[in-house]
Amino acid sequence: MKQVLIDRYGTPWEVARCAEVPDVGPPAADEVVFDVLAFPINPADMSFCRGGYRLKPPLPATPGAECVGRVTAVGADVRHVGPGDLVINLQRENWTQRRKVKGDDAIPLPAGIDLRQAAMVRINPPTALLMLTDFVDLAAGEWVIQNVANSAVGRLVVVLARQRGLRTVNVVRRPQLVEELEALGGDLVLVDGEDLAQRVAKATGEARIRLGLEAIGGAETGRIADCLATDGTLVHYGSMSGIDPQVGRSNFVYRGVKLTGFMLGRFMARRTPQEIRAIYADIAKQVMAGTLSAPVDTVYPIERIKEALAHADKGGRNGKILVRPNGALQ
Ligand SMILES: NC(=O)c1ccc[n+]([C@@H]2O[C@H](COP(=O)([O-])OP(=O)(O)OC[C@H]3O[C@@H](n4cnc5c(N)ncnc54)[C@H](OP(=O)(O)O)[C@@H]3O)[C@@H](O)[C@H]2O)c1
Repeated sequence: MKQVLIDRYGTPWEVARCAEVPDVGPPAADEVVFDVLAFPINPADMSFCRGGYRLKPPLPATPGAECVGRVTAVGADVRHVGPGDLVINLQRENWTQRRKVKGDDAIPLPAGIDLRQAAMVRINPPTALLMLTDFVDLAAGEWVIQNVANSAVGRLVVVLARQRGLRTVNVVRRPQLVEELEALGGDLVLVDGEDLAQRVAKATGEARIRLGLEAIGGAETGRIADCLATDGTLVHYGSMSGIDPQVGRSNFVYRGVKLTGFMLGRFMARRTPQEIRAIYADIAKQVMAGTLSAPVDTVYPIERIKEALAHADKGGRNGKILVRPNGALQ
């Protein structure tokens, strides 16, 4: 079977290759085997290839934080999924044609769900959801501010916030995104810049913004902090610039702004397996209904992984780059 391998850490499209490896074999009693139908290339996967991610396994290694698959075989003790079912996998190493995992790591999805969207269910939707629920107890009508508003996470934040009656200030780096994000439900869409805090204050009528979501780092983190109310909370959850957050000290000393961070695994670990399945069941329902989705730019076959990675690295895409290891999604 085919599998993506990286032999060294470095530029993703230089270090990754599509290799021929032995099949995974039949499942043990507590295991599930599934064909990988699609996986997205996420920013964290790019960092993984570069060796900049928190996990840096011995080489050769297979990247891939998420995927959607179709079960081909289950062990005798596995009850919650069976052959033919669609699943997402809570474990990594998904850039491959077939996976064998513990039954508890295979979360069932409803039949008929759009496969492209299903491939992106595991990480970004719960990230957007838990960042809105787990830090600040916001009441309907309150504002949330975020940057990378055009990212998959950012777009999900817009929709999930609106469902809760929250209003969003969405900060982007390209003016051509304003109309599109307003149409999605963003209340305010502003292009980042030095005077961001003044523009936000004016446009929101000096609203007390108690939650900020930030995934760039550097001075961009500081500009979101400057927009928050006294005692507000700023959640740093990604590093698109690769630079550590730079936040003016007056935010902390004079205004008591709290800077904290989010990692999905850490927040999921606070929940029971039943609660986790319930979160994904609700997300899957919303994906089926078409209320939650992420745009897809291009889908590549696994043999063209290098091209897919180079494309994923380019700014200004119209959505995610996906890969179809088994010919589905054609
Ligand atoms: N902590 C967690 O558990 C967790 C979970 C999921 C995701 N994340 C993080 O969330 C972030 C978004 O992920 P995603 O999958 O939604 O991303 P995505 O859909 O691939 O979009 C990436 C976004 O980043 C913007 N961007 C790229 N480089 C930038 C730069 N130097 N300055 C400003 N903006 C830049 C792009 O802007 P354009 O649209 O203008 O190109 C795009 O909107 C990533 O940092 C990811 O690692 C964290």
